[in-house]
Amino acid sequence: MIGIGLLGLGTVGTGVVEILEKRQEELKSLTGKEIRIKKILVKNINKKREIQIKENIITSDFEEILNDKDISIVVELTGDLEQSYKYIKSALNSGKNIVTANKAVVSKYFEELSSLAAEKNLAFLYEASVGGGIPILKPLKEELALNKITEVQGILNGTCNYILTKMFNEGLDYKEVLKIAQDMGYAEADPTADVEGHDTLRKLRILGTLALQGKIDENDILLEGISKITSFDIEQIKKMNSTVKLIGEVKGLDGGFTALVQPTIIKEDSYFANVNMAFNSVVFTGDNVGELKFYGSGAGKLPTANAVLGDVLDIINGTYRKGNPLGERKLRNLNTELKSEYYLRISLSNEDIFKSIEKISREVLYKNDNIAILTKEIEYLEIIELISSLGIDKDKYFIARVLK
Ligand code: HSE
Repeated sequence: MIGIGLLGLGTVGTGVVEILEKRQEELKSLTGKEIRIKKILVKNINKKREIQIKENIITSDFEEILNDKDISIVVELTGDLEQSYKYIKSALNSGKNIVTANKAVVSKYFEELSSLAAEKNLAFLYEASVGGGIPILKPLKEELALNKITEVQGILNGTCNYILTKMFNEGLDYKEVLKIAQDMGYAEADPTADVEGHDTLRKLRILGTLALQGKIDENDILLEGISKITSFDIEQIKKMNSTVKLIGEVKGLDGGFTALVQPTIIKEDSYFANVNMAFNSVVFTGDNVGELKFYGSGAGKLPTANAVLGDVLDIINGTYRKGNPLGERKLRNLNTELKSEYYLRISLSNEDIFKSIEKISREVLYKNDNIAILTKEIEYLEIIELISSLGIDKDKYFIARVLK
């Protein structure tokens, strides 16, 4: 028997329990073993839940899981960053393999936890942390290991993609759509992480570090979220025969890399323009394989639970990449070499502000109660500096990169 300790019984945890119950037969034939959830850690034992769980397996005491010799795999699905770091570290130190969907913890403690697991000869797997149900990390770590990856691009947040799609297709208002995305179970407990781009940034940090085989840290990535987009912006973007997506991108250059997460305006007939709703997609460019595209459900209960259980199967069958998958290349951050055209909208009608903005403008799209321009090729941070020097509040502007 393989004993699993499940930490957290939220949306994804519930999905894991459901699939495990539904697929007992298949699991037995795939592994030759009986797989059982021995304990589930929850905050509130008495909370009403959408699934029936045997009372004797629910606990609010993590030590019970840690000290249970029959539990060899801990599946960490709590939302809390620091708490889950403590759980994962203690579980590895107690000889238990780890599966997690928590990109915040993987991103922040990637190097430490990867080397601890390797040192202990244990698995630390996190397929569900990037791209929800799409198998991306295993192919990247295994099938693509002989490639020099030069570029990773992705739509990596289901909530943002859902919001942008609905705003674009149905003319809905930002707040209205965010609420629906939350109800659908796509958003993080605190949706700020989604809409401000932190969730995409963490996923990109994980992907970029694995792909380039050198550390790309969270603060190496230029970040702009989607929370300030309005229907006015959508109208302007439509007039450009384009759409807008939150895109994460890492490029490998000689001796270094560039990395950004920014709303990006792309032509309506381009590949990413057709990745809609809560779907995610990642495109890798490798020197042997060329361009490789992964597409599928980026969030939601069953897709994410499926990715978690794929990792569990790999641990039981020993079919995962052993050792530390992180490389040791020292990479320089070359973001200052990144220049692009940007769309900039400022919700103010002020002649002084217009005059300053005009200096970086290639084309004025609108000048009335809002000012909207397309900039010349410029560094993103130059725009931010200009905006802040003009004393414009964060909620009064929206910036998106324009890809030709
Ligand atoms: N909140 C995340 C998203 C969940 O919307 O993509 C999946 O990582």
